[in-house]
Amino acid sequence: MCGIIGYCGPRAAGEVLLDGLKRLEYRGYDSAGICVGFDNALTVVKSTGKIAHLRGIVPAALPGTYGIGHTRWATHGVVNDVNAHPHTNQAGDIAIVHNGIIENFSVLKEKLISEGHVFRSQTDSEVIAHLLSDFYEGDLEAALKAVLHLLQGTYGIICVHAQEPNRLVGARNGSPLVLAVGQNEMFLASDVMATLAHTKQVVYLEDGEVVSITNDAYHISELRGDKPISKKVEIISWELENIEKQGHSHFMEKEIFEQPESILRAIQGRLDPENATAHLGGLNMSNTELRDIERVKIVAAGTSFHAGLVASYLMESVAQIPCTAELASELRYRNPIVERNSLYFAVSQSGETIDTLSAMRELKRKGARVLGICNVIGSSIAREAGAGVYIHSGPEIAVASTKAFTSQLAAFYLFTLLISRMHNMSFEAGRGFIQNLSSLPDLVRQGFEQQNHIRALAEKYSHYRDFLFLGRGLNYPVALEGALKLKEISYIHAEGYSAAEIKHGPIALINDETPSIFLVPGDSLREKVISNMKEVKARRGKVIALCVADDEEVKNTADDIITIPKAGEMMYPFLMVVPLQLFAYYTALKLGRDVDQPRNLAKSVTVE
Ligand code: AGP
Repeated sequence: MCGIIGYCGPRAAGEVLLDGLKRLEYRGYDSAGICVGFDNALTVVKSTGKIAHLRGIVPAALPGTYGIGHTRWATHGVVNDVNAHPHTNQAGDIAIVHNGIIENFSVLKEKLISEGHVFRSQTDSEVIAHLLSDFYEGDLEAALKAVLHLLQGTYGIICVHAQEPNRLVGARNGSPLVLAVGQNEMFLASDVMATLAHTKQVVYLEDGEVVSITNDAYHISELRGDKPISKKVEIISWELENIEKQGHSHFMEKEIFEQPESILRAIQGRLDPENATAHLGGLNMSNTELRDIERVKIVAAGTSFHAGLVASYLMESVAQIPCTAELASELRYRNPIVERNSLYFAVSQSGETIDTLSAMRELKRKGARVLGICNVIGSSIAREAGAGVYIHSGPEIAVASTKAFTSQLAAFYLFTLLISRMHNMSFEAGRGFIQNLSSLPDLVRQGFEQQNHIRALAEKYSHYRDFLFLGRGLNYPVALEGALKLKEISYIHAEGYSAAEIKHGPIALINDETPSIFLVPGDSLREKVISNMKEVKARRGKVIALCVADDEEVKNTADDIITIPKAGEMMYPFLMVVPLQLFAYYTALKLGRDVDQPRNLAKSVTVE
C-alpha cells in the first residue's frame, strides 16, 4: 500500500507535503514524489528512494501553496523514477496520486493509447490522469466523478488541475482517505498521522464519497448521484509525541518497550472485579445475545492472525466455546458457511488490511455478525464492523507489529473473561483471571531485565541463515509470531512449528547450522516440549530455550536460555512474545537492516 497526501492553504505546499509524507513513509517507501501548483502550472518532483532523498532534490524555494504527494509501495511497475507518483496527463496540467489497484487499467490504457495518449509509466495509476484529461470540461470534481465510474478496483485518489489553483479533489474506494480541517487550510491524507502536527479535526471518508477542498472550505458528495453529504468532524485523541521516537533508535524499539503501558491501556476501565468479569461497551451486544453465542470465528492476517490463533486456543479451553482462527485471505475465497449464533472477529491493527476487510464484507454479505478488533480509530474495518473493541495501543509505526499484538491478546482475554463468566467460569476463577491480567504490565516490565542478554544472544546467533521456532498449546501461535518477527526485519529464514510437529518432517532440517528456539514455560506441556528439545539436541541442533528462571532441566538441556517471569499458565503468550520481539530487533540491528521499514514490506497491506 502507499501513502498519499494533499494540501491547500497559505503555506508553502512543498514543505507541508514532505513533512506529511515522512509520517506516511511507513505505508510504503520505495519511491516518492510531490506536485505543487503555482501560477497556473504544476511542478512535479519525484524519484526512487525515501522521503529524505526526495527532500534533497526538491527545489528549496519551490513556490505554490497547494499540491499533492505520494510515497509508494510498488504494485504495478518496477521501482523507478518514472513509476513514482504523482502521475500527470500528457499536457502536464493534471496530476494525481493513487493508493490501491485499478484492476481494469490494461483495457483502459489500451483504449487511451489507441486514441493517441502517450504513457510514460508502467503503472495502473497513470490511466487516471489521462482519463481526467479526456473528461475535464472546467470542473475537476465532475471530471473525477466521470472517471471513477470507469474504474474497477480500489483507490484512494487525490488530484489537482493547474487551472483550478488551491483546489484538490479526492475520493476513496477500498483504500483510506481522511480529510483534516485546519485553520484556513485543508488536508487530505491516507491517515491522520500525516496531518496530526497541524490539526486534530478530521472527517473520515467512506467508500463512494468524493471530497473537494479549498483553503477554507470542503464539500463532500456521493459518487453516485452527486448528493451532498454532511459528516461529523471528529477530534483525534493522539498527540504528536505518540508518533515520535522519543529518544529510541527505532519506532520498533519504542513500541516494544511501550507494551506495559499499551497493555494497561487495553485493559483499563474494562475490568469489573466486583462481578469478576469484563466490560466491553463497544460490542453493541446484549448479555443475552452474548450468552447465546455458540461459536466464535476469527479472521485476520499476519501478526493479527497469530493473535487470533492464541485467542482460539484460549476461548475454547476457558470459555468452552468452539473457536477457530483463519487467514482472512483464505476464508474470503472458500465460500464459507456462516452458521447461526456465530460471532466473528475481524482483527486488524491498521483496520485497512484489504484481505481482512474483504473477508469481513463477504461474511456480512452472508449474514454474519462481525466485530472489529482494531487499533486505528475510524479505520475502514472498525467503521464497517460498526462494533467491536479498540485496543488503544497508540500509533504503531514500525512495520513489524509488536505492541498491537499484545494489546490484541488483551482484548481477546477480556472477551474470554466476559463470555466465560456467562457460562461456567466461577466468581473465584474470574477474580483469578482478573488478577493475572492486572499483573501483566509489571510482568512484561520484569521481562525487560533480560534485554542485554537477549541482545548478546541475538548477536551470537545472527550469522545463522535458518531458524525454527517451536512451541505448544497457547505458545504455538507465539512461535509462529516469533518466526515472523525475525524473518520480516532481519531477512533470515525462520519457521514456526508446533514443537510436537517437528517429528513429522521439519526435524530433517536440524543440524548444527539451524538453531531452534523453544518456548517452554512451566506449563502443563513442559515435559513434552523438553522431550522435543532433546530430540533436536540429539541431532546436534543448537537450542535456545525461553523458560522460567528456576527450570534447571531446561537450563541443562539448552545451549542458551532466556528467562521469563513466572505467571499463570494462560499469561505466557504475553511474556514469551516480548523476548522474541527483542531477539528479532537486535538481530536486525546487528545485520544493519532497516528495522522500521524492512525491504519489500509496508505497514498495512491494502492490496489483495
Ligand atoms: C506484522 O509484523 C506484519 N507487519 C504483518 O504481518 C501485519 O500483521 C499484517 O499485515 C496485518 O496487518 P493489520 O493488523 O494492520 O491488519
